[in-house]
Amino acid sequence: MKGLILSGGKGTRLRPITHTSAKQLVPVANKPVLFYGIEAMAAAGIEEVGIIIAPETGEEIRTAAGDGSRFGVRLTYIVQDEPLGLAHAVLTAEPFLGDSPFVMYLGDNLLQGGIEDLVAAFRDSEPDALILLTPVADPEQYGVAELLDGAVVRLVEKPAEPRTNLALVGVYMFNARVHAAARAIEPSSRGELEITDAIQHLVDSGRRVEPHVVKGWWKDTGRLEDMLAANRLVLDTIEARVEGELIDSQVDGRVVIEPSARLERTTVRGPAIIGASARLTDCYIGPYTAIGDGCSIENAEVEHSILLSGSAVSNLAGRMESSLLGRNVTVGRDHRQPRAYRFLVGDNSEIGIL
Ligand code: DAU
Repeated sequence: MKGLILSGGKGTRLRPITHTSAKQLVPVANKPVLFYGIEAMAAAGIEEVGIIIAPETGEEIRTAAGDGSRFGVRLTYIVQDEPLGLAHAVLTAEPFLGDSPFVMYLGDNLLQGGIEDLVAAFRDSEPDALILLTPVADPEQYGVAELLDGAVVRLVEKPAEPRTNLALVGVYMFNARVHAAARAIEPSSRGELEITDAIQHLVDSGRRVEPHVVKGWWKDTGRLEDMLAANRLVLDTIEARVEGELIDSQVDGRVVIEPSARLERTTVRGPAIIGASARLTDCYIGPYTAIGDGCSIENAEVEHSILLSGSAVSNLAGRMESSLLGRNVTVGRDHRQPRAYRFLVGDNSEIGIL
């Protein structure tokens, strides 16, 4: 069995972070989302993993994940020239996949509990496809499934009026029949070859499509609130570990302080993670916060936020919360005259001030 991770696409919903970086590399608890997918494949015993990349962000993904040896898998990078849909990505990967059955994992998805049981179920019952479903509050944002007596009867991509609340989770298992199905369908109204339509084609051709309702949590990290939610869920599972230096500082609860981080007169209340070489002075770091490597925070309170590496926050009058800062961002109080807000902000940024 092979693996296919989709890390192409545009990431429009996480702009401006994704203007300069692939959305699959945005960190959850200081680890790129993509790595959770690769680790899930490795844990399920899948050794050959293809990664779909876009021409713009592919190099960064290659640099981050390398040849896969540190995860215990062999990674093959497959360039998809344009993001023409998930089924188009499968067709792009056909030379790599051959006639092997495979697990497809969307590179911006996070699934608790991994995929070991699902791979075992797929191997056991050998359906043509195995899809994962979970009830959601906003099904119109996803592919939606309709079941009848436990069998899949209809799948619709982002329906305006969903007939059920069962969303398609971004992990799928297929045998080689999916290639013919992907070739048989037409682009959707958003101009993409939808994997949802390819699976519907399998259903319509009398092929066996097995649904599995996911028991643990699942997150598509495409939007800011989903990133923060994923960060909360993963931080809730980390094991406390303090390797950095604490000077007149205190950590409470589930907290990771990476080596060479330095905290002075600072309180960290977990769950939280502080990256390597971070400098925190006179700070309060509240629950559900992930501070990236090399960040520096001084005289500030930060809670329920994600800071990517190299960011600096200082002298804030109020607590910063529910925020996502990209790499090397500076947020601080400015004492120059005239007293004024001074910004240098990229496209599609969002700022909320007290
Ligand atoms: O997250 C689950 C949902 O994922 C499903 O419920 C939907 O049925 C499915 O279509 C998909 O919807 P999204 O609109 O969220 O997909 P998105 O465009 O975000 O792409 C998912 C991943 O696949 C992301 O890591 C980017 C990558 N991708 C996407 C496209 C369109 C590619 O590698 N190539 C592509 O052409």
